[in-house]
Amino acid sequence: MNVAKGIGASAAILGASALLLRHSISRKWIDYRACQRDLDLNDKVYVITGGNTGLGYETAKDLAERGATVVIACRDMEKGFEAMESIMKATGNPDVECLELDLCSLASVREFVKTIQSHRQYSTIDGLILNAGVWVPPAETATSDDADESEPLASSPTKTQDGYEIHFGVNHLGHFFLANSLVENVKKSGDGRIVFVASSLLKSGKLNFEAYDHIYSARQIPPGEKKGFAPPAYCDSKLFNALTCKQLATILPPEVTTYSVCPGFCRSELGRHANLGMVKKMLATPIMRLIQRTTTQGAQNIVFCALEDKKNLKSGACYADGEISKKLAKHVDSFGIMGPKSVWSVSDMLVKDAAK
Ligand SMILES: NC(=O)c1ccc[n+]([C@@H]2O[C@H](COP(=O)([O-])OP(=O)(O)OC[C@H]3O[C@@H](n4cnc5c(N)ncnc54)[C@H](OP(=O)(O)O)[C@@H]3O)[C@@H](O)[C@H]2O)c1
Repeated sequence: MNVAKGIGASAAILGASALLLRHSISRKWIDYRACQRDLDLNDKVYVITGGNTGLGYETAKDLAERGATVVIACRDMEKGFEAMESIMKATGNPDVECLELDLCSLASVREFVKTIQSHRQYSTIDGLILNAGVWVPPAETATSDDADESEPLASSPTKTQDGYEIHFGVNHLGHFFLANSLVENVKKSGDGRIVFVASSLLKSGKLNFEAYDHIYSARQIPPGEKKGFAPPAYCDSKLFNALTCKQLATILPPEVTTYSVCPGFCRSELGRHANLGMVKKMLATPIMRLIQRTTTQGAQNIVFCALEDKKNLKSGACYADGEISKKLAKHVDSFGIMGPKSVWSVSDMLVKDAAK
Protein backbone atom coordinates (compact mmCIF):
# COMPACT_ATOMS: atom_id res chain seq x y z
CA MET A 1 0.00 0.00 0.00
CA ASN A 2 2.83 2.34 1.07
CA VAL A 3 4.83 1.44 -2.05
CA ALA A 4 1.82 2.20 -4.25
CA LYS A 5 1.34 5.54 -2.47
CA GLY A 6 5.05 6.35 -2.98
CA ILE A 7 4.86 5.55 -6.68
CA GLY A 8 1.70 7.64 -6.99
CA ALA A 9 3.30 10.61 -5.21
CA SER A 10 6.46 10.37 -7.35
CA ALA A 11 4.39 10.22 -10.52
CA ALA A 12 2.40 13.27 -9.39
CA ILE A 13 5.61 15.21 -8.61
CA LEU A 14 7.14 14.19 -11.95
CA GLY A 15 3.98 15.19 -13.80
CA ALA A 16 3.77 18.53 -12.01
CA SER A 17 7.47 19.21 -12.70
CA ALA A 18 7.02 18.36 -16.38
CA LEU A 19 4.04 20.74 -16.55
CA LEU A 20 5.98 23.50 -14.77
CA LEU A 21 8.99 22.96 -17.06
CA ARG A 22 6.76 23.03 -20.12
CA HIS A 23 5.06 26.19 -18.81
CA SER A 24 8.33 28.04 -18.18
CA ILE A 25 9.81 26.88 -21.51
CA SER A 26 6.64 27.94 -23.20
CA ARG A 27 6.77 31.39 -21.59
CA LYS A 28 10.39 31.90 -22.58
CA TRP A 29 10.47 30.32 -26.02
CA ILE A 30 7.12 29.61 -27.56
CA ASP A 31 4.51 32.15 -26.42
CA TYR A 32 3.96 34.71 -29.10
CA ARG A 33 1.57 37.56 -29.65
CA ALA A 34 -0.57 37.19 -32.73
CA CYS A 35 -1.07 40.41 -34.64
CA GLN A 36 -4.39 41.74 -33.28
CA ARG A 37 -4.99 44.35 -35.93
CA ASP A 38 -7.92 43.39 -38.09
CA LEU A 39 -7.23 45.27 -41.31
CA ASP A 40 -8.64 44.87 -44.77
CA LEU A 41 -5.58 45.04 -47.01
CA ASN A 42 -7.48 45.01 -50.30
CA ASP A 43 -5.67 47.95 -51.87
CA LYS A 44 -2.26 47.22 -50.31
CA VAL A 45 0.85 45.73 -51.87
CA TYR A 46 3.49 43.71 -49.99
CA VAL A 47 6.79 42.38 -51.33
CA ILE A 48 8.36 39.55 -49.33
CA THR A 49 11.79 38.06 -50.02
CA GLY A 50 12.12 34.32 -49.54
CA GLY A 51 8.36 33.85 -49.61
CA ASN A 52 8.42 30.27 -50.88
CA THR A 53 8.91 28.61 -47.51
CA GLY A 54 9.24 29.08 -43.74
CA LEU A 55 8.51 32.45 -42.16
CA GLY A 56 8.31 34.27 -45.51
CA TYR A 57 5.66 31.87 -46.79
CA GLU A 58 3.57 32.19 -43.62
CA THR A 59 3.87 35.98 -43.66
CA ALA A 60 2.81 36.08 -47.32
CA LYS A 61 -0.12 33.78 -46.57
CA ASP A 62 -1.30 35.90 -43.64
CA LEU A 63 -1.18 39.12 -45.68
CA ALA A 64 -2.91 37.46 -48.66
CA GLU A 65 -5.59 36.18 -46.29
CA ARG A 66 -6.28 39.80 -45.33
CA GLY A 67 -6.79 40.68 -49.00
CA ALA A 68 -3.40 42.19 -49.90
CA THR A 69 -1.65 41.90 -53.23
CA VAL A 70 1.48 39.92 -52.42
CA VAL A 71 4.70 39.47 -54.38
CA ILE A 72 6.90 36.65 -53.20
CA ALA A 73 10.48 37.14 -54.34
CA CYS A 74 12.14 33.75 -54.78
CA ARG A 75 15.39 32.44 -56.19
CA ASP A 76 13.94 29.08 -57.22
CA MET A 77 10.98 29.77 -59.50
CA GLU A 78 9.69 26.21 -59.36
CA LYS A 79 9.43 26.38 -55.56
CA GLY A 80 8.13 29.94 -55.86
CA PHE A 81 5.26 29.04 -58.21
CA GLU A 82 4.34 26.10 -56.03
CA ALA A 83 4.19 28.41 -52.98
CA MET A 84 2.24 31.04 -54.94
CA GLU A 85 -0.38 28.48 -55.95
CA SER A 86 -0.56 27.10 -52.45
CA ILE A 87 -1.14 30.60 -50.98
CA MET A 88 -3.80 31.38 -53.61
CA LYS A 89 -5.56 28.11 -52.87
CA ALA A 90 -5.40 28.50 -49.08
CA THR A 91 -6.59 32.12 -49.06
CA GLY A 92 -8.76 32.36 -52.16
CA ASN A 93 -6.80 35.51 -53.06
CA PRO A 94 -5.73 35.52 -56.74
CA ASP A 95 -3.44 38.56 -56.30
CA VAL A 96 -0.31 36.64 -55.41
CA GLU A 97 2.66 36.74 -57.76
CA CYS A 98 6.06 35.09 -57.72
CA LEU A 99 9.01 37.01 -59.19
CA GLU A 100 12.62 35.91 -59.45
CA LEU A 101 15.16 37.29 -57.01
CA ASP A 102 18.49 35.76 -56.07
CA LEU A 103 20.09 37.77 -53.29
CA CYS A 104 23.38 36.02 -54.07
CA SER A 105 23.68 38.30 -57.07
CA LEU A 106 23.38 42.09 -57.06
CA ALA A 107 22.60 41.89 -60.80
CA SER A 108 19.59 39.73 -59.94
CA VAL A 109 18.47 42.29 -57.34
CA ARG A 110 18.75 45.00 -60.00
CA GLU A 111 16.69 42.91 -62.47
CA PHE A 112 14.06 42.27 -59.80
CA VAL A 113 13.81 46.00 -59.09
CA LYS A 114 13.40 46.69 -62.83
CA THR A 115 10.61 44.11 -63.02
CA ILE A 116 8.79 45.63 -60.03
CA GLN A 117 9.16 49.11 -61.46
CA SER A 118 7.83 48.02 -64.83
CA HIS A 119 4.56 46.79 -63.24
CA ARG A 120 2.18 49.68 -62.65
CA GLN A 121 0.31 47.81 -59.90
CA TYR A 122 3.53 47.70 -57.85
CA SER A 123 4.45 51.36 -58.22
CA THR A 124 3.32 51.80 -54.61
CA ILE A 125 4.59 49.29 -52.08
CA ASP A 126 2.98 49.34 -48.63
CA GLY A 127 5.35 46.85 -47.08
CA LEU A 128 8.76 45.59 -48.13
CA ILE A 129 9.58 42.58 -45.99
CA LEU A 130 13.25 41.61 -46.10
CA ASN A 131 12.95 38.05 -44.86
CA ALA A 132 15.11 35.70 -46.95
CA GLY A 133 18.14 34.36 -45.16
CA VAL A 134 20.83 31.71 -45.06
CA TRP A 135 22.65 29.96 -42.24
CA VAL A 136 25.84 28.16 -43.22
CA PRO A 137 27.99 26.62 -40.46
CA PRO A 138 31.68 27.36 -40.87
CA ALA A 139 33.74 24.45 -42.23
CA GLU A 140 36.48 25.21 -39.72
CA THR A 141 34.35 23.86 -36.86
CA ALA A 142 34.78 20.28 -38.12
CA THR A 143 37.37 18.30 -36.20
CA SER A 144 38.96 14.97 -36.99
CA ASP A 145 37.32 13.40 -33.88
CA ASP A 146 33.87 14.47 -34.88
CA ALA A 147 34.27 15.11 -38.54
CA ASP A 148 30.70 16.01 -39.34
CA GLU A 149 29.99 18.37 -36.43
CA SER A 150 28.52 21.53 -37.86
CA GLU A 151 30.32 20.82 -41.08
CA PRO A 152 28.57 22.31 -44.07
CA LEU A 153 27.43 19.89 -46.71
CA ALA A 154 29.63 19.75 -49.80
CA SER A 155 27.14 21.91 -51.68
CA SER A 156 26.87 24.59 -48.96
CA PRO A 157 27.65 27.97 -50.47
CA THR A 158 30.23 30.12 -48.69
CA LYS A 159 30.27 33.08 -51.11
CA THR A 160 27.75 34.93 -53.22
CA GLN A 161 28.09 35.12 -57.00
CA ASP A 162 29.72 38.52 -56.50
CA GLY A 163 32.33 37.04 -54.17
CA TYR A 164 30.91 38.33 -50.86
CA GLU A 165 30.79 36.18 -47.73
CA ILE A 166 27.45 34.35 -48.01
CA HIS A 167 25.72 35.73 -44.87
CA PHE A 168 26.98 39.24 -45.49
CA GLY A 169 25.94 39.08 -49.15
CA VAL A 170 22.51 37.42 -48.89
CA ASN A 171 21.22 38.40 -45.44
CA HIS A 172 22.59 41.92 -45.47
CA LEU A 173 23.99 43.41 -48.69
CA GLY A 174 21.36 42.10 -51.15
CA HIS A 175 18.62 43.40 -48.85
CA PHE A 176 20.42 46.70 -48.35
CA PHE A 177 20.51 47.17 -52.13
CA LEU A 178 16.88 46.10 -52.52
CA ALA A 179 15.62 48.43 -49.76
CA ASN A 180 17.48 51.38 -51.24
CA SER A 181 16.30 50.64 -54.76
CA LEU A 182 12.61 50.34 -53.79
CA VAL A 183 12.41 53.06 -51.16
CA GLU A 184 10.72 55.51 -53.56
CA ASN A 185 7.92 52.96 -54.17
CA VAL A 186 7.48 52.58 -50.40
CA LYS A 187 7.38 56.36 -49.91
CA LYS A 188 4.30 56.56 -52.14
CA SER A 189 2.23 54.49 -49.70
CA GLY A 190 1.80 57.12 -47.01
CA ASP A 191 2.18 54.39 -44.36
CA GLY A 192 4.93 52.37 -46.02
CA ARG A 193 7.08 49.99 -43.98
CA ILE A 194 10.42 48.32 -44.51
CA VAL A 195 10.73 45.34 -42.20
CA PHE A 196 14.07 43.59 -41.68
CA VAL A 197 13.78 40.04 -40.37
CA ALA A 198 16.73 39.96 -37.98
CA SER A 199 17.29 37.52 -35.11
CA SER A 200 18.00 37.57 -31.39
CA LEU A 201 21.35 36.03 -32.38
CA LEU A 202 22.40 39.53 -33.41
CA LYS A 203 23.39 39.78 -29.71
CA SER A 204 26.45 37.68 -30.63
CA GLY A 205 27.12 39.80 -33.69
CA LYS A 206 30.24 41.93 -33.95
CA LEU A 207 31.02 44.97 -36.03
CA ASN A 208 34.56 46.05 -36.72
CA PHE A 209 35.57 46.47 -40.34
CA GLU A 210 39.21 46.90 -39.31
CA ALA A 211 39.52 43.83 -37.11
CA TYR A 212 37.37 41.49 -39.22
CA ASP A 213 36.92 40.90 -42.91
CA HIS A 214 33.12 40.93 -42.57
CA ILE A 215 32.74 41.45 -46.31
CA TYR A 216 34.64 38.63 -47.96
CA SER A 217 35.30 35.95 -45.36
CA ALA A 218 33.39 34.67 -42.38
CA ARG A 219 34.52 35.95 -38.98
CA GLN A 220 36.44 33.24 -37.15
CA ILE A 221 36.33 32.52 -33.44
CA PRO A 222 39.95 32.64 -32.19
CA PRO A 223 41.34 29.28 -30.98
CA GLY A 224 40.54 28.71 -27.31
CA GLU A 225 37.53 31.03 -27.35
CA LYS A 226 34.10 29.48 -26.78
CA LYS A 227 32.16 28.80 -29.96
CA GLY A 228 28.45 29.51 -29.89
CA PHE A 229 26.10 27.29 -31.86
CA ALA A 230 25.45 29.96 -34.50
CA PRO A 231 27.88 30.82 -37.28
CA PRO A 232 29.57 34.13 -36.27
CA ALA A 233 28.97 35.58 -39.75
CA TYR A 234 25.23 34.80 -39.44
CA CYS A 235 25.09 36.74 -36.15
CA ASP A 236 27.03 39.63 -37.73
CA SER A 237 24.68 39.75 -40.73
CA LYS A 238 21.65 39.94 -38.43
CA LEU A 239 23.32 42.74 -36.45
CA PHE A 240 23.89 44.54 -39.77
CA ASN A 241 20.15 44.16 -40.53
CA ALA A 242 19.29 45.93 -37.26
CA LEU A 243 21.97 48.61 -37.73
CA THR A 244 20.83 49.26 -41.32
CA CYS A 245 17.26 49.58 -40.06
CA LYS A 246 18.38 52.06 -37.39
CA GLN A 247 20.30 54.17 -39.91
CA LEU A 248 17.48 54.02 -42.46
CA ALA A 249 15.09 55.42 -39.85
CA THR A 250 17.23 58.55 -39.57
CA ILE A 251 17.05 59.16 -43.34
CA LEU A 252 13.45 58.27 -44.17
CA PRO A 253 10.67 60.84 -44.27
CA PRO A 254 8.01 60.36 -41.53
CA GLU A 255 5.59 58.64 -43.92
CA VAL A 256 7.92 55.63 -44.18
CA THR A 257 8.91 53.65 -41.14
CA THR A 258 11.27 50.74 -40.67
CA TYR A 259 11.59 48.01 -38.07
CA SER A 260 13.80 45.03 -37.45
CA VAL A 261 12.22 42.01 -35.86
CA CYS A 262 13.19 38.69 -34.32
CA PRO A 263 10.56 36.06 -35.13
CA GLY A 264 11.68 33.74 -32.32
CA PHE A 265 13.22 30.29 -32.62
CA CYS A 266 11.14 28.57 -35.31
CA ARG A 267 10.92 25.18 -36.99
CA SER A 268 11.93 25.98 -40.58
CA GLU A 269 14.40 24.95 -43.26
CA LEU A 270 17.00 27.45 -42.08
CA GLY A 271 19.31 24.72 -40.77
CA ARG A 272 19.35 22.90 -44.11
CA HIS A 273 23.13 23.38 -44.56
CA ALA A 274 23.99 22.07 -41.09
CA ASN A 275 25.14 18.50 -41.05
CA LEU A 276 24.72 17.44 -37.44
CA GLY A 277 25.12 13.74 -38.01
CA MET A 278 22.52 11.07 -37.28
CA VAL A 279 23.06 10.68 -33.50
CA LYS A 280 23.10 14.38 -32.69
CA LYS A 281 20.07 14.94 -34.90
CA MET A 282 18.16 12.22 -33.05
CA LEU A 283 19.06 13.77 -29.69
CA ALA A 284 18.41 17.34 -30.77
CA THR A 285 15.06 16.80 -32.51
CA PRO A 286 12.90 16.23 -29.40
CA ILE A 287 14.50 19.19 -27.59
CA MET A 288 13.96 21.39 -30.63
CA ARG A 289 10.33 20.25 -30.80
CA LEU A 290 9.90 21.42 -27.21
CA ILE A 291 11.33 24.89 -27.65
CA GLN A 292 10.66 25.85 -31.25
CA ARG A 293 7.68 27.79 -32.54
CA THR A 294 5.97 26.93 -35.76
CA THR A 295 6.68 29.29 -38.63
CA THR A 296 2.99 30.28 -38.52
CA GLN A 297 3.52 31.50 -34.96
CA GLY A 298 6.88 33.17 -35.68
CA ALA A 299 5.48 34.96 -38.74
CA GLN A 300 3.06 36.83 -36.47
CA ASN A 301 6.00 38.89 -35.20
CA ILE A 302 6.74 39.96 -38.77
CA VAL A 303 3.07 40.65 -39.53
CA PHE A 304 2.92 42.74 -36.33
CA CYS A 305 5.68 45.06 -37.58
CA ALA A 306 4.04 45.26 -41.01
CA LEU A 307 0.54 46.09 -39.73
CA GLU A 308 0.53 47.52 -36.20
CA ASP A 309 -0.56 51.15 -35.99
CA LYS A 310 2.67 53.10 -36.42
CA LYS A 311 1.67 55.39 -33.55
CA ASN A 312 2.45 52.42 -31.30
CA LEU A 313 5.81 51.67 -32.91
CA LYS A 314 9.22 53.34 -33.03
CA SER A 315 10.88 53.52 -36.41
CA GLY A 316 14.40 52.06 -36.43
CA ALA A 317 13.79 49.88 -33.37
CA CYS A 318 14.22 46.15 -33.01
CA TYR A 319 11.07 44.22 -32.04
CA ALA A 320 10.43 40.79 -30.56
CA ASP A 321 7.02 39.43 -29.60
CA GLY A 322 5.16 42.66 -30.16
CA GLU A 323 7.43 45.00 -28.24
CA ILE A 324 10.85 46.64 -28.49
CA SER A 325 13.42 44.15 -27.31
CA LYS A 326 15.51 45.84 -24.60
CA LYS A 327 18.20 43.15 -24.81
CA LEU A 328 18.62 43.54 -28.57
CA ALA A 329 18.40 47.34 -28.40
CA LYS A 330 21.20 47.36 -25.80
CA HIS A 331 23.55 45.54 -28.17
CA VAL A 332 22.53 47.55 -31.24
CA ASP A 333 22.87 50.83 -29.33
CA SER A 334 26.28 49.82 -27.98
CA PHE A 335 27.75 50.74 -31.38
CA GLY A 336 26.72 54.37 -30.92
CA ILE A 337 25.78 56.50 -33.90
CA MET A 338 28.89 55.45 -35.80
CA GLY A 339 27.89 51.75 -35.94
CA PRO A 340 24.82 52.20 -38.16
CA LYS A 341 26.65 54.88 -40.18
CA SER A 342 29.67 52.69 -40.90
CA VAL A 343 27.55 49.71 -42.00
CA TRP A 344 25.59 52.06 -44.21
CA SER A 345 28.59 53.76 -45.85
CA VAL A 346 30.49 50.50 -46.48
CA SER A 347 27.38 48.85 -47.96
CA ASP A 348 26.55 51.91 -50.02
CA MET A 349 30.02 51.87 -51.52
CA LEU A 350 29.74 48.17 -52.36
CA VAL A 351 26.41 48.47 -54.19
CA LYS A 352 27.31 51.64 -56.10
CA ASP A 353 28.53 49.84 -59.21
CA ALA A 354 25.67 47.35 -59.12
CA ALA A 355 23.17 50.21 -59.07
CA LYS A 356 24.29 51.45 -62.51
N1 LIG B 1 13.89 29.95 -38.07
C1 LIG B 1 14.33 30.64 -37.04
O1 LIG B 1 14.39 30.14 -35.91
C2 LIG B 1 14.75 32.07 -37.21
C3 LIG B 1 15.07 32.81 -36.06
C4 LIG B 1 15.45 34.13 -36.20
C5 LIG B 1 15.51 34.70 -37.46
N2 LIG B 1 15.20 33.96 -38.57
C6 LIG B 1 15.29 34.62 -39.88
O2 LIG B 1 14.06 34.46 -40.53
C7 LIG B 1 14.25 34.54 -41.94
C8 LIG B 1 13.50 33.42 -42.63
O3 LIG B 1 14.10 32.21 -42.23
P1 LIG B 1 13.33 30.82 -42.12
O4 LIG B 1 13.55 30.34 -40.74
O5 LIG B 1 11.96 30.92 -42.65
O6 LIG B 1 14.26 29.92 -43.05
P2 LIG B 1 13.96 29.08 -44.38
O7 LIG B 1 12.80 28.21 -44.17
O8 LIG B 1 15.27 28.48 -44.72
O9 LIG B 1 13.58 30.20 -45.44
C9 LIG B 1 14.57 31.05 -45.97
C10 LIG B 1 14.08 31.67 -47.25
O10 LIG B 1 15.13 32.48 -47.79
C11 LIG B 1 15.31 32.13 -49.16
N3 LIG B 1 16.66 32.40 -49.63
C12 LIG B 1 17.82 31.86 -49.21
N4 LIG B 1 18.83 32.32 -49.96
C13 LIG B 1 18.31 33.16 -50.88
C14 LIG B 1 18.83 33.91 -51.95
N5 LIG B 1 20.12 33.87 -52.27
N6 LIG B 1 17.99 34.67 -52.69
C15 LIG B 1 16.66 34.69 -52.42
N7 LIG B 1 16.10 33.97 -51.44
C16 LIG B 1 16.91 33.21 -50.67
C17 LIG B 1 15.00 30.65 -49.20
O11 LIG B 1 14.80 30.22 -50.54
P3 LIG B 1 15.06 28.65 -50.95
O12 LIG B 1 13.91 27.89 -50.40
O13 LIG B 1 15.11 28.68 -52.44
O14 LIG B 1 16.36 28.27 -50.33
C18 LIG B 1 13.76 30.62 -48.34
O15 LIG B 1 12.66 31.05 -49.08
C19 LIG B 1 15.75 34.50 -42.16
O16 LIG B 1 16.21 35.81 -42.41
C20 LIG B 1 16.29 34.00 -40.84
O17 LIG B 1 17.59 34.47 -40.60
C21 LIG B 1 14.82 32.66 -38.47
